[in-house]
Amino acid sequence: MKILMVCLGNICRSPLAHGIMEHLVEKNGLSWTIDSAGTGNWHIGQGPDRRSTREASNNGIDISKQVCRQFSVSDFDNFDLIVVMDKENYLDVMDMARNGQDTAKVMMLLGDKEVPDPYQNDSQFAPVFKLIEAGCKELMGFLLKKDAIK
Ligand code: 4NP
Repeated sequence: MKILMVCLGNICRSPLAHGIMEHLVEKNGLSWTIDSAGTGNWHIGQGPDRRSTREASNNGIDISKQVCRQFSVSDFDNFDLIVVMDKENYLDVMDMARNGQDTAKVMMLLGDKEVPDPYQNDSQFAPVFKLIEAGCKELMGFLLKKDAIK
């Protein structure tokens, strides 16, 4: 199973989703590939926002070595599932889909609920971590129940 976590900047939310999912993958003894990317290009090559790194670290997860990259069409070929944080990400990624096989891979982490962008608000990082953690746990539970996905 290969899962790509996507947000706008790939420095706040998707790095958390990437780190949390990777943590769950290890905990469950799986050999899944987890990665993250942003629809925007502003932060390519940078590490995650320090506020995300700190919040992850407070929860025992190290995301400090992640490097920001931009989402590209080839990600539809390289991943089984593309998990976005909000409706804007969803539309941006769906706009790049080439066919039904691509669009079928795209989902919002929290279903019809969004993970809000915390970039402009320091106090949002802790609740955003919790939202993403809950979403990742639910997604992991769902995927583990589905047969033949390992
Ligand atoms: P993210 O947050 O999408 O959760 O990584 C953002 C980070 C940076 C910007 C936007 C959103 N930005 O415009 O630079």
